[in-house]
Amino acid sequence: MSKQIGILTAGGDSPGLNAAIRGVGKSAQGTYGMRVIGFRDGFRGLTENRTMRLEGDSLSGILTKGGTILGTSRDKPHKMLIGGKRQDMTDAIVETYEANHLDALVCLGGGGTQKNALRLKEKGLNVITLPKTIDNDVALTDTTFGFDTALGIATDAIDRLHSTAHSHHRIIVVEIMGHRAGWLALGAGIAGGADVILLPELPYDIEKVSEAIRGRVKSGKSFSIVAVAEGALSVDQASRIAKLQQDLLNATDKAEHKALKALIAEQESDYADNTLRLSRQLEQLTGLESRVTILGHLQRGGTPSATDRLLGTRLGTACTQLIADGRYGVMVAARGEGTEPVPLEQVAGNKKLLPPDHPWIESARMVGTSLGD
Ligand code: F6P
Repeated sequence: MSKQIGILTAGGDSPGLNAAIRGVGKSAQGTYGMRVIGFRDGFRGLTENRTMRLEGDSLSGILTKGGTILGTSRDKPHKMLIGGKRQDMTDAIVETYEANHLDALVCLGGGGTQKNALRLKEKGLNVITLPKTIDNDVALTDTTFGFDTALGIATDAIDRLHSTAHSHHRIIVVEIMGHRAGWLALGAGIAGGADVILLPELPYDIEKVSEAIRGRVKSGKSFSIVAVAEGALSVDQASRIAKLQQDLLNATDKAEHKALKALIAEQESDYADNTLRLSRQLEQLTGLESRVTILGHLQRGGTPSATDRLLGTRLGTACTQLIADGRYGVMVAARGEGTEPVPLEQVAGNKKLLPPDHPWIESARMVGTSLGD
């Protein structure tokens, strides 16, 4: 009997999701004669058994589209907001899986989705995941789909900001997404020729940043582009957070644990304004005028790049082959030209951050870019 598979997209959307849905769907139906059911809006739609037909024509014409035809949400199976309260909806998910006679569930998502998928695997479901996110921070895969498109958009933005910064002799601080990882800011910063790049993995010293900008002024360059990752922290901020996290690890008392968690959340929400703060500090320290551009969700929108369409298709079709072979409980990782199944236990809870000796960091330094450290 042919297999029946479910598919959903979870977490923030990412260019290339539709290419991956199409890759799974077309190969499952065309090559193996499997049946495919889409679930809407991530794990919430799975809980509520809200489905979408993914047969025949419904998979045509979506390769070039941004977003996800299935819709997405940041809901977690074990902590879903229902009527104002967080509830564990895992049993409802198992019910949906059984009611639809699924042989496998494909979850397309980033780091959080890998953790949620592992939880479902532990409940006995045949789960398989694909790594998507513009942040490129999923562990044990060479890359994730969405990253290349976002890299192109952020690079284009830096290119455009150059001419206006130059005309007005200004600093332009451009904030680039990436959550707590610096891949996108570093990649776009190098490709766009930013003068300063600030990354979450390398806490910055504001004096060093302003020194780099003043140095440019001395050499006749009266404008500067500062590419800052949304998760970048100053040396002081990073050490404050690290200390609180250490205290949290050592906390034995429940109340103390709760208080420390609240304190960390408070600090982090204060640091959410870092880009504006940085711009103001640079104005004071350099005497130049400074402007802020926050690229935000522009980086996730619109047509996926050729690279992301190709990656989504490669991972999607490899996923179907694994299902045909009965290999579950894995993430389909991109590895060189090919793909590799990696056990979910190894991926979940791990993040791929930039190592301080990464070749991109070395290249940035060698072309004279300040990393503020
Ligand atoms: O994970 C992708 C991402 O775009 C991050 O870069 C960013 O921090 C976050 O999602 C934004 O989330 P939301 O779309 O929920 O505002």
